[in-house]
Amino acid sequence: MTGPMSGRNFPAEPHGNPQGPRSVSIVRLTANLTPLKRCASDPIAARIARSCRASARHRSSATRVIEMTLWSEFLTHQGSGMSKWKQYFPAYQRHLSKFIDQSILLVEIGVSGGGSLQLWKKFLGPFVRIVGIDTDVTCKQFEEDQISVRLGSQSDFTFLQSIAEEFGGPDIVIDDGSHRSEDQINAFQFFYPLLTKNGVYAIEDLHVAYWDLQAGLVPHGKSTIDLCKSLVDDLHGRYSRDKRSTFTDTTRSISFYDSLVVFERGIVQNLYAPVIGTRDGNPGIVIDSKGLRVLDAGESVPQDT
Ligand SMILES: C[S@@+](CC[C@H](N)C(=O)[O-])C[C@H]1O[C@@H](n2cnc3c(N)ncnc32)[C@H](O)[C@@H]1O
Repeated sequence: MTGPMSGRNFPAEPHGNPQGPRSVSIVRLTANLTPLKRCASDPIAARIARSCRASARHRSSATRVIEMTLWSEFLTHQGSGMSKWKQYFPAYQRHLSKFIDQSILLVEIGVSGGGSLQLWKKFLGPFVRIVGIDTDVTCKQFEEDQISVRLGSQSDFTFLQSIAEEFGGPDIVIDDGSHRSEDQINAFQFFYPLLTKNGVYAIEDLHVAYWDLQAGLVPHGKSTIDLCKSLVDDLHGRYSRDKRSTFTDTTRSISFYDSLVVFERGIVQNLYAPVIGTRDGNPGIVIDSKGLRVLDAGESVPQDT
């Protein structure tokens, strides 16, 4: 493999695919009052109602079903403290909803007040296993049912190896740790190849590389955002002579948001552009192990494995 991810072995895909997507978790608020009256008299219910999407609806006069978004879970959170940029919430909603109620492993680098670990647990449901990583020994106090905390640095390869040996390949990694590029890149190079087949990897606070305060701390061209930009070329590696890599064949998308990047893994070895109907007698184009070519008439398209 070439490019920034070279030098790492990409292991075989260790896990299966989380089953079908669900968009949001549902909470039921039962009240004898009408929802409007309840909201007026109960500030928490009012906050939930304000922050939830418009699809709240009545099931009966006594039961109201409200869609809980990650944002509304955050606004109504009453556990340990946390802080996240607000623009992250719709992005996480988009990329993580498919994991709701699935038996998955989420690793978050950076525990701090512990609240984000609790937020992921509330959002993803009763089967998620969460591992928080932090260098601060006080973070151990945030362990609870479904949540483990391991102490060490994201820059320590041996420590990360011990996490992988103990818990296996993660389905989700969220890097909210040191925010130093060398640490973010180290953790990414370790965990990304270990992600399960449809796993998601998010790196927060990429703006740090742009801060004047930080200028000079990150060598020019060596920041995490530089790596992510170069991986856009690796994503398209099948269209150039020397860029195709395991990253190309196992990455479905790279999504850039303000200060946040999200990678989605998936098997994408053979892409093709089928023709529907007739168009110049051309049955379509395929890019497979033989490279870019026109499909022969009647040729079946090779399937991804
Ligand atoms: C921004 S806070 C995490 C916030 C938390 N995720 C939240 O959403 O509220 C960053 C945390 O990363 C930890 N940290 C700093 N350097 C680290 C490193 N090299 N490896 C792991 N954690 C680190 C700090 O101790 C701190 O608790």
